[in-house]
Amino acid sequence: MFKGVLFDLDGILTDTAEYHYRAWKKLGQEIGIPIDRKFNEQLKGVSRNDSLKLLLEKADRVGEYNSERLQELATCKNNYYLEMIKNIGPEDVYPGILTLLKELKGHGIKVSLASASKNGPLLLGLLKLNSFFDGIADPEKIAFGKPKPDIFLLAAKNINVRAEECIGIEDAIAGVQAIQSSGAMPIGVGKTSELGDKLNIVPTTEKLTYDYLVSKWEDLFK
Ligand code: BG6
Ligand code: MG
Repeated sequence: MFKGVLFDLDGILTDTAEYHYRAWKKLGQEIGIPIDRKFNEQLKGVSRNDSLKLLLEKADRVGEYNSERLQELATCKNNYYLEMIKNIGPEDVYPGILTLLKELKGHGIKVSLASASKNGPLLLGLLKLNSFFDGIADPEKIAFGKPKPDIFLLAAKNINVRAEECIGIEDAIAGVQAIQSSGAMPIGVGKTSELGDKLNIVPTTEKLTYDYLVSKWEDLFK
């Protein structure tokens, strides 16, 4: 049996992936770089600074900003985002997630957060989910963000379980790739067209039941 579950946050525990998108879109509009949802797929799971880089690269404008200005832009996006999430509460936890977390706890499975977001602890507090997490991987402590495996390896380490003994849950292609290279078993939430066909995918978090996780884990050894 798997011993740990490594959760992405934005787009898995709650709808904050949408707010990240809106905040980037707002910043983009201000600096004359329009973005749409298709481009946003590339930003999902990617760190704040790397996302800004992708945004500027898209418009071929990386060289226009010195490091101080880049920092200002990243802070500006984060301030938009913080304003958007300030009223988030337990009622915003995605369907099925609370039940799953309770079931995992009941079965003694360790749970760890593997989010690229520096706002992860703030969000867990707003959502009142802290008590379900045995570990939180700090994105400031890793060398490389998703799609590299570092954040999932750290999340597994924080609960004293090997990544190979874990299931990782993700809604972003960069995150799925990170789970795959960590050695954990990925489960995607979303569409095959976005996440690929090399993993089990559910359309919504409601389908992420404990029994589903167990059955997919058992399939690995059939
Ligand atoms: C990821 C999101 O979880 O965290 C990205 O999918 C976001 O969209 C990244 O850019 C970093 O988040 P933050 O809160 O540190 O800016
Ligand atoms: Mg996500």
